[in-house]
Amino acid sequence: MKVMVVGSGGREHAIIKKIKENPEVTEIYALPGNGGMLGDAQCVDIGAKDIAGITDFARENGIDYAIVAPDDPLVMGAVDRLTAAGIPCFGPTAAAAAIEGSKVFAKELMKKYGIPTAAYRVFDSAEEALEYVRTAPMPTVVKADGLALGKGVIIAEDVKEAEAAVKSIMEDRIFGESGAKVVIEEFLTGPEVSVLAFTDGHTLVPMVSSMDHKRALDGDEGLNTGGMGTVAPNPFYTKEVAAECMEKIFLPTVKAMNAEGRTFKGCLYFGLMVTPAGPKVIEYNCRFGDPETQVVLPLLKTDLLTVMRAVTEERLAEVPVEFSDGSACCVIMASGGYPGKYETGKKISVKKHPGCEIFAAGVRLAPDGSAETSGGRVLGVTAKAATLKEAADAAYSQVRDIDFDGAFYRKDIGKRALAALEKG
Ligand code: AMP
Ligand code: GLY
Repeated sequence: MKVMVVGSGGREHAIIKKIKENPEVTEIYALPGNGGMLGDAQCVDIGAKDIAGITDFARENGIDYAIVAPDDPLVMGAVDRLTAAGIPCFGPTAAAAAIEGSKVFAKELMKKYGIPTAAYRVFDSAEEALEYVRTAPMPTVVKADGLALGKGVIIAEDVKEAEAAVKSIMEDRIFGESGAKVVIEEFLTGPEVSVLAFTDGHTLVPMVSSMDHKRALDGDEGLNTGGMGTVAPNPFYTKEVAAECMEKIFLPTVKAMNAEGRTFKGCLYFGLMVTPAGPKVIEYNCRFGDPETQVVLPLLKTDLLTVMRAVTEERLAEVPVEFSDGSACCVIMASGGYPGKYETGKKISVKKHPGCEIFAAGVRLAPDGSAETSGGRVLGVTAKAATLKEAADAAYSQVRDIDFDGAFYRKDIGKRALAALEKG
C-alpha cells in the first residue's frame, strides 16, 4: 500500500513513523517532507499548498491513501480535491476546516450551539473595534479571524495595548487578509489542555490529553512560538473534566458541524482552558497539533492507519482505539534566536539513545549527505515511560546528546505537570 503524507514538520514525521508500523504499507511519500525524515519516507519536492501538484502526484503514482496534516492545505480544500480524484484521504473538507480557518465562524458556531467559550465580539471595522476596546474589561484578547501561523492572538493588558493590537491586525495587516476581521474576547484563566480527537462525523474518540508549552523561555516567559514542548497525559484533564468536555464540548461540536452541513472527518483538536467555571474552548484546530502529536502518537497502541481508514470510511465505531497507560515528554530543540531571527545550516550531531524518538522538523541534508538545520524548530525529542518524571528525564538525557551550533531548548518542559501531579 502506498501512503502519502502532506506536510514537512515534526508532526508529519511522527505520523509517518506510526504509519510505517503497519505491515501493509510498502511506500510512504512526504510532500515535501524534510531531510531528517529520509530513513522513514521518500521526500517529494511538492509544497504543502500546491493542491494541484499534490493531486497530480497522488493520481500519477497510484497513491492508495493520503493524509493531509497542516492547516493551510486543509483550509484550501486539499481533501476535497483528492477525494474528487478518487484518492481516499484523512482530513476534513474545506467546509469543515473552517472551524480553524475562521475564528469568527468557530465563535459563531459555539454561540449558536451553546458550546462553552469566552464571551466575544466580532468587528470588521477598525474604528468600531477601537471604540469597543476603550471601555472593554482588561486584559482582553484580540484575535485575527484567519490563519496566522499560530501567532494571530494578542493578549492586551490595558487599553493602550488593545488599541495597538487592533491597529496592527486591522490597519497594518501584520497577518495579511487574516486581519480583515477581528474577534475580541474575554480573558479566561486556568490551565490549558489540548485534546486531539478522531471523528468520522458519527463517533468521536478523544486521544490521550496533552499540554503544550507555547512560550519560548522557561517559566512561560518570552514570545509565543509554535510550541517548545509537550507532555501527555495532561494532569489537569481529570476524569471529571473529561466527562464534562465530552458532554458539553466534544459531542455538541460534532453535532453542530453536522447540522451546519459541514460534517467534520479527521482529527479535531480542542484547545481548552479549565476555568473556575468549567472547561471552555480557546480554539479549535482542524488537524493534529504540533508538537502535541509527538507525544500523543507514541502512546497510541492501536495501528494508526487502521484508525484513519475507519475515519475515512465512517466506521470509527468498529475500531477500539487504545492508548498506553504511560506518559510521554517531547522537548523541542530550536535554532538560537527562534521565534525571532536565527541562522541555519548548522551541522547536527546525534548520539541516539534507545527508546527515544527524534522527530525532524527544520532539518535538511547538506551536499555531503550530513544533516543540518534549516528552520526555527529543528527537532522534537520524545521519550515515553511509566511516569512523566521518567519520561522527562529520558527526553532531556537524549537532548543533551544532540548538538548543533546555537541549539536552544526549554529546561522546564513537564515541570508544571509534575508539580500538579505531586499536589495530587
Ligand atoms: P491560539 O493561537 O488561539 O492557540 O492562542 C494562543 C494562546 O493565547 C492560547 O494558548 C492561550 O494561552 C491564549 N489565549 C487565547 N485566547 C484566550 C482567552 N480568551 N483568554 C486567555 N488566554 C487566551
Ligand atoms: N501546538 C498548537 C498547534 O498545533 O496549533
